[in-house]
Amino acid sequence: MIVLRPYQSTIAPNMNYTSPVKICCIGAGYVGGPTMAMIAKQCPDIQVHVVDLNQARIDRWNSDELPVYEPGLDEVVKEARGRNLTFSTQVDAAISEANIIFIAVNTPTKSFGIGAGRAANLEFIEKCARQIAKCSKGHKLVVEKSTLPVRTAEAVKRILSSAANGATFDVLSNPEFLAEGTAVQDLLHPDRVLIGGESSEAVERLAQVYGRWISRERILTTNLWSSELSKLAANAFLAQRVSSINAISALCEATGADVDEVAKAIGTDSRIGSKFLKSSVGFGGSCFQKDILNLVYLCEHFGLREVAQYWEQVVVMNDYQKRRFSERIVRTMFNTVSDKKIGIWGFAFKKDTNDTRESAAIHVCRDLLEERARLAIYDPRVPESQIREELQLAFADSVGGLSDKHKKLIETNVTVVGDAYAAANEAHAIAVLTEWDEFKSVDSRRILEDMRRPAFVFDGRNILDRNKLVEQGFEVHSIGRPSK
Ligand code: UDX
Ligand code: UDX
Repeated sequence: MIVLRPYQSTIAPNMNYTSPVKICCIGAGYVGGPTMAMIAKQCPDIQVHVVDLNQARIDRWNSDELPVYEPGLDEVVKEARGRNLTFSTQVDAAISEANIIFIAVNTPTKSFGIGAGRAANLEFIEKCARQIAKCSKGHKLVVEKSTLPVRTAEAVKRILSSAANGATFDVLSNPEFLAEGTAVQDLLHPDRVLIGGESSEAVERLAQVYGRWISRERILTTNLWSSELSKLAANAFLAQRVSSINAISALCEATGADVDEVAKAIGTDSRIGSKFLKSSVGFGGSCFQKDILNLVYLCEHFGLREVAQYWEQVVVMNDYQKRRFSERIVRTMFNTVSDKKIGIWGFAFKKDTNDTRESAAIHVCRDLLEERARLAIYDPRVPESQIREELQLAFADSVGGLSDKHKKLIETNVTVVGDAYAAANEAHAIAVLTEWDEFKSVDSRRILEDMRRPAFVFDGRNILDRNKLVEQGFEVHSIGRPSK
């Protein structure tokens, strides 16, 4: 059976799906918020109601300062908000009024019990399904937007089938492939939209929504399980490429090869392709590690030990890359960074986002603080409170407790500053941890004047002009290149 087929509109509307589409989305996070804003923008006649338990987050979606920073998102939200896009905490009412309900709540890695550290915590998904069952009448379409383990839809269907008031449901899997920092462009021009489901009428109903602005060839339909697995597999493949090039970067540093040259040389092979071969201090973000661990857990569950070990190595490699970077800083700076000021440029997990989940910067800063370095951290989009919270979590024990010693260490050794110059002022070293564009155009002469000597630069993203900096008098250490 061929399961992957471009979408074709061949199905007559089903009796269940004749009324105008009304959408509710549970979860106003990095995925739910931008995705729903785009649907509302592109389909002015469809009412879109985004709900979340978190009142503060909803308040920000209703303000001029959105909780998610994404280039171009402000304009999209402004166009639709108040017209056909609503944000509120009225979960029950929104469910009961809608006929398509997206679930976009978070699915963190379990931190307790069976599968701790690997399996996805599906508590929020299950709670959503129960709430939908409770508040629904008639027929509704339930769409899994969150990334989920394969066969989660089975559990969702079973919970929904217990609805007391005779409501009926179709369940679809419609994973989101947007990347943070480019969410608006990814939503406008996706490589593909994937819809997995059993009912062709339900698939058709959702495909028609996306079909308003996305060409039909890009709307792929599969069975439910292929769709759920494709999202995990796509993220695993992407993360694997980063870990592969990062593995090569270690070898480059040892041999005198240059990882960017190697990436270019292999990336021009059309079978390999040039994207996602940028060596870095390590991948971060809410998805890669979580989804791979989830995949590993699934493989173990099905007795596929070798497959599990294969994918787990992608995460092992990433941990090694982050650790290797902080160790290189300490080793290069005469084996001690104690009481030395290190300017940290960037804290987000990549540029053009305010998201810090699983950012490599957290791990590097924690390692340097363990060595008693003094850190001056600057990120153009991440607020001080968020940086401190992430560092506290990094030092917390397995039940979330923070020792007085670590609390004091963060208080005394971390300052969060307002620009890259302040971070570099009187610093012994600069570490670039996020590839923000503004770091490429700093006045490096001014930076050099303000720094201690030797003026070390550790470029964890290979974005600075290394030759220029070396000529000016910096000592530069990049990823995957011999030091200069
Ligand atoms: C992403 C993706 O949706 C998902 O694929 C992945 O599995 C986890 O992360 P994201 O939008 O980045 O989700 O998560 P987050 O920004 O944490 O947003 C989730 C929102 O759901 C939060 O605002 C949270 O308050 C809300 N939520 C969670 C509810 O409204 N109800 C719940 O029961 C649980
Ligand atoms: C990823 C997937 O790309 C997206 O399709 C999915 O929906 C969610 O997970 P995201 O995590 O937002 O998106 O960002 P992505 O651009 O994939 O980057 C992830 C991490 O890998 C970042 O820390 C980034 O800096 C790093 N990365 C990416 C590299 O180090 N090198 C690269 O070449 C590419």
